[in-house]
Amino acid sequence: MRTFKLLLGATLTLVSLMWSPGRAEQSGGDYPAAAKQDPGTDDAAMAQWKRRGQEPDWMAEELAKHKVLIPADNKGLVGKGQGSTYGSVTPEDVKVWQQETYKLAVEGSRIFHSGDRLKSTIAVSCDMCHPDGANTHPETYPKFQAQLGRVALLRDAINWCIENPVRGKKLAPDSPEMRALETYIYAQRTGTPLQYGKR
Ligand code: HEC
Repeated sequence: MRTFKLLLGATLTLVSLMWSPGRAEQSGGDYPAAAKQDPGTDDAAMAQWKRRGQEPDWMAEELAKHKVLIPADNKGLVGKGQGSTYGSVTPEDVKVWQQETYKLAVEGSRIFHSGDRLKSTIAVSCDMCHPDGANTHPETYPKFQAQLGRVALLRDAINWCIENPVRGKKLAPDSPEMRALETYIYAQRTGTPLQYGKR
């Protein structure tokens, strides 16, 4: 009975999400940056990534199914006023940092798209309601979330969805899974300006 109620709840939420016309407009028409980014540039970066042959099998498999945006090349920021922190930074260093960051985003994509990895008791994954990370709005955190009754960080909103619509197991804020999910969600909004607190 309880399972039935949970299922019904999740189905209703799903249905209400899918059947609300103009939802995208209501949220300011902000689809994930994936849709906005120049696909040409993105594909070129992806091809370059693959040529380097640094991609483990699990990453190739995930990327064949889902697009994950490549981390920005922020080398212009590295070493400027922070030189003493990092010592001398080589282009090779920057590449390794980019690869490690991308790996975490792709790992996040695996979790985001898997009810099993989220330990969902009703076989629901995040993408069922947030395709490609849509409507997750990481750029608006921290902000007050009424359902939590306090200022929430992105990880709090993620855990809220894990516990409620997904009926999974809440993640420790510093767990590898939470770190990967956060990375994936931010990655999908590459290019969106930060506006913390926005409703
Ligand atoms: C059954 C549909 C459903 C599923 C599955 C779901 N969510 Fe959500 N999610 C929602 C709804 C509805 C909201 C809006 C809640 C609100 O703002 O009151 C939301 C809000 C969010 C937000 C905050 C968005 C904002 O504008 O502040 C984040 C982040 C988020 N979800 C992440 C996730 C993640 C990560 C998962 C997978 C663990 C997930 N969601 C699974 C329905 C879902």
